This record gives sequence, C-alpha cells and structure tokens, in this order.
Amino acid sequence: MTSRVIAIDGPSGAGKSSVSKRVGAELGFLHVDSGALYRIMTWQCLAHDIDTADPEAVAAFAGQVAVDCEPRGGAVAYFVNGQEPGNAIRTPEINRHASPVATVKAVRDRVTAWLRDMTRFGNLIVEGRDITTAVFPESPARFYLVASAEARAERRRLEEIEKGIADQSAEEVKRSLLARDAIDSTRKHAPLRKADGALEIDSTRMTLDEVVEAVLAALPQDWKEVLQ
Ligand code: DC
Repeated sequence: MTSRVIAIDGPSGAGKSSVSKRVGAELGFLHVDSGALYRIMTWQCLAHDIDTADPEAVAAFAGQVAVDCEPRGGAVAYFVNGQEPGNAIRTPEINRHASPVATVKAVRDRVTAWLRDMTRFGNLIVEGRDITTAVFPESPARFYLVASAEARAERRRLEEIEKGIADQSAEEVKRSLLARDAIDSTRKHAPLRKADGALEIDSTRMTLDEVVEAVLAALPQDWKEVLQ
C-alpha cells in the first residue's frame, strides 16, 4: 500500500510542530520535521566554514552532507555521522543562517529527496514551508497553519524557555522570526505560500486541542473510515 502523507506548512511559531506531533500520535503517522533537515544543512555548513551568504559555496557543499533517517518513538529521527544533532541545531546562530541556506536550490533538492524517500517508513505527517506546494503537492490532506506575529513570537519564546535555550528578549525573538518569514516567503525556489486546495487554519485564538480537532475533522473521508 502506498503511504498517506499529511502535509502542514506555515510560518515559524504557527504551531506546526505541536499540532503535527499530536495528530501523528493520534493516527499513528510518523512525525517528520523538515525544518530540522534545513537546520542540519546549516549546522554542517557552519561546522565546515562554508559562507552561508555564498549560494554557490553552499550549493557545492550540499551534496556532501549525509543524514541517516530512522523511525523512532513516533517520529523520524536524524543522525549525522551517527550522532543526533539535538539542540545544536536550535541556536540563535542557526536560526539566523538557516533561511539563507534554505534559499539554495541544491539544498532544497536534497532535502526534498530525503523527505520523499521517508514514505518507505509508512504514513507520515510532514511539517515545513513547502510540503503542501512542492514536496507532497498531491496529498489530499494539506494544511496551512497561521497565527498573528505576536502569538507566534510568544510561543517560540516559551518553547525556548522550556528547552532551556532561551537567551533572547521577546522583541528579539519576534524580530528574528519576522526576518526569517520574510526570506522564506520571498525566495525564488519553493517560497512559503498557501497552496491552492490547502485548508488554512488561523490558530491565534485556538487551543492546541481545537487545532488538532480541526485537522482530524478535515481529513479525507476515505482516510477517516480506515484510520479513526
Ligand atoms: O521550521 P524551522 O524554523 O525549523 O525551519 C528552519 C528553516 O528552514 C527556516 O528558515 C525555514 C526553512 N524551511 C524551508 O525552507 N522549508 C521547509 N520545508 C522547512 C523549513
């Protein structure tokens, strides 16, 4: 049987991760964080002294990054040279460099190929910026999650506090998030945008439970008959 893919796009802090993890757990779909793959690319560029502002240097390096993927605990886990990157890919430095790295077509092609290959693991819920438009545009379950910039920045800040990696003020978090949104939605290759046919959910005034319910309720009828 071919795998089913739920695709979720949206700007930083719109709630994609929390929603995808919950919906994935509910349905037994593996959670796939595509942003982490762009972060790994960025982390590896920095570790090898590649200038992230030089798209040609980044493109030439992209093919050398090897990531092993393995289903684990309801998600697809990533390994670079046998190690999980952990919080090394969640630093403000990586936040700053990830958007320029993600503009490079060779990087996007490589990450897209890794993501498509993951369907061999079974049913997936994949979150990112171009999942509904470019990676899995044929999926009948595509969502565009949005929220106000204030709500998104506040969620990101709380997440960083929870992970013990917070070292920025609320204003700095908002500024860095808006800077990334601007690059992500104006880049030439696979920019962030709402796909035709994707269901837009504005989570500004919704609880996590409500968003999860909205996603589950909007799944294709023939999936619901098998899955729920
Ligand atoms: O979701 P995130 O903050 O972990 O994403 C990190 C960066 O990768 C961000 O600048 C957007 C980019 N990205 C992308 O271009 N396409 C995706 N499918 C996922 C993330």
